[in-house]
Amino acid sequence: PKQQTLAVIKPDAMEEHREDIMEEIRGRGFSISQLKETVLSREVAEEFYKEHKEKPFFSQLVDFMCRGPCMMLVLTKENAVEDWRAMMGPTDPDKAKETSPQSLRARFAADILHNSVHGSSTEQQAEEKISFIFGDISTDAELTFT
Ligand code: CMP
Repeated sequence: PKQQTLAVIKPDAMEEHREDIMEEIRGRGFSISQLKETVLSREVAEEFYKEHKEKPFFSQLVDFMCRGPCMMLVLTKENAVEDWRAMMGPTDPDKAKETSPQSLRARFAADILHNSVHGSSTEQQAEEKISFIFGDISTDAELTFT
């Protein structure tokens, strides 16, 4: 069965790595079912990352995510949640360089905050974040293209 996940190309990766990342996404068999480029407001970034509200890095994270455009993508394929997380690699690029040198974060990320890409961690979180970012049209099959 096909699965959807929400992927985000973060502001640190937009200028230099967006095209490479999008090409690699397509090359790994994901369909890009929806996408939009957007500058997040503080309000939206705070809500998007509400699970991290109590973390010491929360305000830095929100500042960073609002500093320029992000690319928001709905990715569809079998096992999309797990496969996109594997493609990203660990949150911390230093760890990514050790354990998965081919991953996007190993190759493109500067540090644990500025880590180039985001992906939902579970199917349930993916559904919640997709409808938060894209609204209820996210399941409309007619919008799917590759
Ligand atoms: P992401 O996968 O989008 O989920 C939460 C984000 O918070 C994470 O990527 C990083 O951008 C950031 N983050 C996670 N842990 C830390 C940390 N220890 N210090 C700073 N930023 C972090």
